Amino acid sequence: MKTVRVDPAALPVAIIGANGMLGGELLKACTRSDFPVTALDLPKFNLTNHEDVAYQLKKIVPRYVLNAAAYTDVDGCEEHPGLANAINGEAVGVLANACRDIGAVLVHYSTDYVFDGTDPAGYAEDAAPNPLSVYGKSKLEGERLLRASGCKYLLIRTSWLFGPGRRDNVVEKIIARAQQDGKLRLVNDRWGKPTYAKDLAAVTLDLAAQEKSDGIYHVTNAAPDAGITWYEFGAAIVALVGLKIPVTPCASHEFPQAAARPVHSLLANTKLPPLQPWREALQDYVAARRGIA
Ligand SMILES: NC(=O)c1ccc[n+]([C@@H]2O[C@H](COP(=O)([O-])OP(=O)(O)OC[C@H]3O[C@@H](n4cnc5c(N)ncnc54)[C@H](OP(=O)(O)O)[C@@H]3O)[C@@H](O)[C@H]2O)c1
Repeated sequence: MKTVRVDPAALPVAIIGANGMLGGELLKACTRSDFPVTALDLPKFNLTNHEDVAYQLKKIVPRYVLNAAAYTDVDGCEEHPGLANAINGEAVGVLANACRDIGAVLVHYSTDYVFDGTDPAGYAEDAAPNPLSVYGKSKLEGERLLRASGCKYLLIRTSWLFGPGRRDNVVEKIIARAQQDGKLRLVNDRWGKPTYAKDLAAVTLDLAAQEKSDGIYHVTNAAPDAGITWYEFGAAIVALVGLKIPVTPCASHEFPQAAARPVHSLLANTKLPPLQPWREALQDYVAARRGIA
């Protein structure tokens, strides 16, 4: 089937959460590809200020709204369920209603944590969600309100997101711990699929350039169907940055966390061409960070 693309210059885009990890990559990708872009984030744009959200979007009149804003501290959500639901749930409904009113397409990002991770075969786009944590429940509520709003949307679920822009991103955390302790112990009994924020941003703009607005997508870097463990991911990070330290596997019960996490956190992409393999994406990230470190 022929892919029809629009001229990016004719596609004004608004990015919400533009200072975040994914938001930052979306902003760079829009700038590189000549999409006219408006960047929105705290403190001037607060998703929990409902009237202002609708007012600002009506002023900008974007064709695509990319919502990369969220309360992403998974364990923090257990402590602050009201805030989690306000940002990850209710606010998505407000945004979706505003997008419907101005005829914009809302691209909203969700998570593997809407699934319970009990199925080692993984989860296709139409699998039934069953979140284990407050974070997962709040993100599922956002999905529900989005779908109920009647706006045109793309709902993109992703997992194990890494990329520059935040010192607390998972790859930097692993490198910092390895450097500090001179050794690493990493969980080897939870499986997932890493996603490079730069690749996810590129897919998003590709879908927008095709004027897609047709439902749910699962986007991760290519990985075995059974996923990889944190131990495998960490060992690859350590090798790529050239640290000569021991990396040993351990069980997740050795690192208790407030929020329950899915064991097989495996998003199956059945709709889009696969992204580059996760090791190549990680290599890209490490090469880019050499330039900035
Ligand atoms: N990180 C992951 O591993 C992962 C995995 C699966 C799915 N996802 C999803 O992917 C998306 C992007 O995640 P990310 O890791 O890039 O997020 P992030 O780095 O935590 O960035 C989130 C952004 O949202 C902003 N924000 C928070 N509350 C807001 C509010 N009330 N109004 C406006 N902006 C607000 C944050 O500002 P402050 O920094 O000032 O709070 C930050 O700039 C999210 O939907 C997330 O649920 C992430």
